[in-house]
Amino acid sequence: MILVTGGTGLVGSHLLYHLSLENDTIRAIYRTEASLEKVKKVFSLYTSDEKLFAKIEWFLADITQVPAMIPAFIGVKQVYHCAAFISFDLRDYREMRKVNIHGTAIMVNLSIDAKVDKLCFVSSIAAVGDAIKGSLTDEEDEWNKELDNSGYSITKYGAEMEIWRASQEGVEVVIVNPGVILGSGFWSAGSGKLFSKVYSGFKYYTEGVTGFVSVQDVVKPMILLMNAGVKNERFILVSENKSFKEIFFLMADAFGKKRPSIKIKSWQTAVFWRIAWVVSRITRKEPLLTKYSAKSAHSISKYSSEKIEETIGYQFESIEKSIKKICKNYPKI
Ligand SMILES: NC(=O)c1ccc[n+]([C@@H]2O[C@H](COP(=O)([O-])OP(=O)(O)OC[C@H]3O[C@@H](n4cnc5c(N)ncnc54)[C@H](OP(=O)(O)O)[C@@H]3O)[C@@H](O)[C@H]2O)c1
Repeated sequence: MILVTGGTGLVGSHLLYHLSLENDTIRAIYRTEASLEKVKKVFSLYTSDEKLFAKIEWFLADITQVPAMIPAFIGVKQVYHCAAFISFDLRDYREMRKVNIHGTAIMVNLSIDAKVDKLCFVSSIAAVGDAIKGSLTDEEDEWNKELDNSGYSITKYGAEMEIWRASQEGVEVVIVNPGVILGSGFWSAGSGKLFSKVYSGFKYYTEGVTGFVSVQDVVKPMILLMNAGVKNERFILVSENKSFKEIFFLMADAFGKKRPSIKIKSWQTAVFWRIAWVVSRITRKEPLLTKYSAKSAHSISKYSSEKIEETIGYQFESIEKSIKKICKNYPKI
């Protein structure tokens, strides 16, 4: 039996589809019936065959609730832990610690108790350190707790620490550290919002650089790593390092829309996130921009995926090709 957490999210839903091609015993955690509809829509992008979705045994639970999670581990040999709370809003920090660190500790404890063979954890480049200036960041660059890290970054690093504990207690682990993940569906959350903004004629861009990867190029290596003799290693998953300007231009071209034309400077985002912070305090709504999303819009971070390419011979699709494919699905689901 394979157990998947976060199966109703971007990564988890695409992962479930790919797992369902080769496996008949898959259990996935869900919290609401409505979220299952989103997964069905993702499956519909790949196939009209409803048998694949029907293979999944859905298990209602919250990963932070130990008693509810215990039965989910019965007969489980492999765990893919994708569930997380992603936010750059300071007000979400406590909840993020609960889901990302405490929730992962629970997944680790239950995996040890159930004698799970192998656990794959979806971490992030946010849990990897910075390289020496001029070189690409790789898996050996240690996260630095002395820096002004976002709450998300702190909790993904904390979660990785829990995963390494599992490796010390007899469960084989692999950690993947994807860059910004681009994929179809979930257009109003995470990177999906970038597609929605560009589609609706967003005019602005920044020149910060980071690593980007398609969701297929996250879930396929995860499955390959789980079935290979690789253990207790982490792998950066980045197809290409690109600026937000380049990404927005690729999206606009793929949609046949006008390219964003107004460059936003870092002082402008610095002013804007402060205004957004005040507005969010008054309206009690999510801020339009946060200190850390403003920072990442301008910072230049480049990553190396050499380790995954050399370890299992994985070849990434170009970001241009991935964006073209995703734009064809917009807003189909
Ligand atoms: N998206 C990116 O660009 C990106 C980049 C690097 C790394 N990652 C990592 O990749 C993983 C998957 O991200 P994603 O983009 O797929 O996120 P997502 O679309 O926001 O999905 C998050 C998933 O976690 C589930 N979840 C959250 N809290 C839970 C809880 N307390 N109990 C049970 N399930 C819970 C959600 O369930 P509901 O549907 O019920 O809310 C959903 O299935 C995360 O670990 C994230 O940190 C993402």
